Amino acid sequence: MIDKPAGGGQTEILPATWRDLRSLLELERLCFGRDAWPWVDVLASLSFPETVRFKAVREEKAVGFVIGDLRRPENLGWIASIAVHPAHRRQGLARLLLARCEEALGVRYVRLTLRPSNTSAYASISPAATGRPTASSATTEMGKAPS
Ligand SMILES: CC(C)(COP(=O)(O)OP(=O)(O)OC[C@H]1O[C@@H](n2cnc3c(N)ncnc32)[C@H](O)[C@@H]1OP(=O)(O)O)[C@@H](O)C(=O)NCCC(=O)NCCS
Repeated sequence: MIDKPAGGGQTEILPATWRDLRSLLELERLCFGRDAWPWVDVLASLSFPETVRFKAVREEKAVGFVIGDLRRPENLGWIASIAVHPAHRRQGLARLLLARCEEALGVRYVRLTLRPSNTSAYASISPAATGRPTASSATTEMGKAPS
């Protein structure tokens, strides 16, 4: 599916697979620095059956991704990670990724874990931004969902 977020170029939101490991790992490291998941965790998140994952692609390059954890018994989805390349931020990509991820999770509540200091992420995940109800968002200093 092709989306054209405001202010940005043509963007595709596509399912991500283990074949995207290298490019998503690069993005992970660029966006999270010392908090970045090790490659084995990124690979696991791209392979587990109970996760949904999407990448934002521009000019055949992955410039963002989202990983959602499905906790079906609790009717809950957990955004384990979301990141957009610095050069492509503030163009609506996180919003597109979240919307697609929430749709694929298909649960009533979606939670996101992030740093209390990360105001940009707070803003972009607000219910007003995604148009869906959210449970109270847990916050940690690591900015990643607990496993
Ligand atoms: C958080 C992050 C994913 C946002 O990506 P993005 O594609 O720039 O977000 P969007 O363009 O969809 O922004 C949606 C809304 O969020 C808010 N927002 C995003 N970045 C912001 C910033 N730097 N300052 C203030 N508000 C911001 C705005 O309300 C924005 O809407 P607007 O541009 O219409 O005002 C990106 O900044 C990032 O990768 N950060 C590092 C990784 C991270 O912290 N991930 C979250 C924890 S897992």
